[in-house]
Amino acid sequence: MNTVVLYGTESGNSELIAQDLADKLNADGHSAEAIDLQDFEPESLTPENFYLVVCSTHGDGELPNTAIEFHEKFTAFSGDLTGVKYAMFGLGDSFYEETYSQGSEHLDRRFTELGATRIGEYGRHDASSWDLPSDVALEWLPTVIEAAEAA
Ligand SMILES: Cc1cc2nc3c(=O)[nH]c(=O)nc-3n(C[C@H](O)[C@H](O)[C@H](O)COP(=O)(O)O)c2cc1C
Repeated sequence: MNTVVLYGTESGNSELIAQDLADKLNADGHSAEAIDLQDFEPESLTPENFYLVVCSTHGDGELPNTAIEFHEKFTAFSGDLTGVKYAMFGLGDSFYEETYSQGSEHLDRRFTELGATRIGEYGRHDASSWDLPSDVALEWLPTVIEAAEAA
């Protein structure tokens, strides 16, 4: 199973997580690459890959800089994503009570609307916690890989 780790970031946390997830998968004998959403087109989504989407929240519950253009294209995209499997890992800060971790949810809604299937638990990192972002993501990783392989 080839895994593509897509990330949207503003201050770099999601990029670090995405790279750590891809490195871990490759070290474990899987095949994975991390790609910034600003370098990725919705047309490239295919059932042949499994997608891990790592995305933070900025503004007032909005997407981070590198995910904004992708989201615009994704909103206009009319392809059928039936058969595409993905998992979501959202970054946020519960200090922002009303909009906690909402950035990734904009992408999640569109994946679902287009017919893709979300696999496993929705992963989250809260910047107000003491947890290191990559530790949380690496703990989450095997659960979604197992779920994807079983799906
Ligand atoms: C200006 C600013 C606005 C933010 N707005 C939100 C928000 O509305 N909701 C939320 O959950 N987190 C918010 N955050 C927290 C970020 O999502 C969090 O710091 C995250 O780890 C950043 O990841 P990134 O480096 O990949 O962009 C905000 C952070 C900043 C600096």
